[in-house]
Amino acid sequence: MLADKDRIFTNLYGQHDWTLAGARERGAWVGTKEFIDSGRDWITNEVKASGLRGRGGAGFPTALKWTFMPKVSDGRPHYLLVNADESEPGTCKDRDILRHDPHHLVEGCLLAARAMDAHLAFIYVRGEFIRERQHLERAVEEAYEAKLIGKDNIHGWDLDIIVHHGAGAYICGEETALMESLEGKKGQPRLKPPFPAGMGVYGNPTTVNNVESIAVVPEILRRSGAWFSSIGRANNTGTKLMCVSGHVNRPATFEEAMGESFKDIIEKHCGGIRGGWDNLLAVIPGGASVPCVPGERIQDAIVDFDGLKEAGSSLGTAAIIVMDKQTDIIKAIWRLSAFYKHESCGQCTPCREGTGWMMRVMERMVEGRAQKREIDMLFEVTKQIEGHTICALGDAAAWPIQGLIRNFRHVIEERIDQYTYSSTSDGAVPSIAAE
Ligand code: NAI
Ligand code: SF4
Repeated sequence: MLADKDRIFTNLYGQHDWTLAGARERGAWVGTKEFIDSGRDWITNEVKASGLRGRGGAGFPTALKWTFMPKVSDGRPHYLLVNADESEPGTCKDRDILRHDPHHLVEGCLLAARAMDAHLAFIYVRGEFIRERQHLERAVEEAYEAKLIGKDNIHGWDLDIIVHHGAGAYICGEETALMESLEGKKGQPRLKPPFPAGMGVYGNPTTVNNVESIAVVPEILRRSGAWFSSIGRANNTGTKLMCVSGHVNRPATFEEAMGESFKDIIEKHCGGIRGGWDNLLAVIPGGASVPCVPGERIQDAIVDFDGLKEAGSSLGTAAIIVMDKQTDIIKAIWRLSAFYKHESCGQCTPCREGTGWMMRVMERMVEGRAQKREIDMLFEVTKQIEGHTICALGDAAAWPIQGLIRNFRHVIEERIDQYTYSSTSDGAVPSIAAE
């Protein structure tokens, strides 16, 4: 498990002063000029050596993404765009960085901007994050006042930071919708390619990174890429912020090493499962967009990218949603269907029509008011949506239902049987069951 000395976010619970004075006491802004002077390639190589993979959900290698930015300027400005539009259900980790440790992010912006030859960074903050934005804005002001950022700052790399407040649409967390929204347009995803490094904000080379991905960069440079990669295992390195909600004894957000077992993590940070491990029904381990895993299969799973893939799901944002045996699993997944239907931007047909269709079928399945053959039909519809849409929201709407059908088909069938028999007074099998 993660030793205290290896923690990056030492003020995650807000016990200490989050302002510049407090951040400095905890080691922020130390050695920053030296790192800037070491240059673009040195910073990128150190992050590459750390093995850091994007912490927003997709896990794309961070340093590799930075290398997509043009090496030779064609006259267009380069931008860093930090995605602080954290909205994935169950996910509340970036929120705590913004609230309690914002200087990690501000310093990270300067170092990442150097690595991509950018002099302007945007931080797009989720609409509902009011206090978080206030802390972040204050941290940015403090950094300007102390000449840590801005024109002619003490580090010798000019950087302006603009904090932009979103308006509360989930889809604006998708990186190209984020750019559209930032530009003042309706937040709808763009087709990729071109990727943002080729054609990003206002048509200029842009790198979009998650808050946590940028906030860990200063400590990676201070302690070395080799230190970060010594935590966890190959391809799954470093520490990770995780947020556990649902039926554990103590829901919590915490920092842990990658590569630990699910059971150990829940015991250490959350005091175990409500009612004991025998009472565990299922877990959604990576935010709402990933398939659920049955309780007996998740207990020994390794919590990292590869471990959760082997368990049939995904690390995603490491937002772990725990459901005990008192949970109506069909209703829980229906609730997610309703969320995706509501948040679909409506731009492409499989998502716009499919999310509503899936939600309505799920609604009937919650009551058992369905036919068993519809289970396969529903699965087939999820397959028609998956991979056939402009952005990942279509996949995100499809995968939780696929997970439900793969792992809990018997629960859906039992519900249909119950409805069938309870709706007939004479016990005769009604026509719906004859299908
Ligand atoms: P993606 O896999 O399409 O892209 C990930 C990143 O890698 C992007 O920045 C993309 O530009 C870059 N990339 C991928 N292939 C590339 C290529 N060939 N060349 C250059 N760059 C490339 O995933 P996406 O759609 O950005 O994110 C989906 C994930 O987001 C989901 O797994 C979900 O867990 C997560 N998510 C997180 C939320 C949150 O609140 N943090 C909200 C909703 C979803
Ligand atoms: Fe919009 Fe859904 Fe298409 Fe994404 S998949 S662009 S949210 S309609």
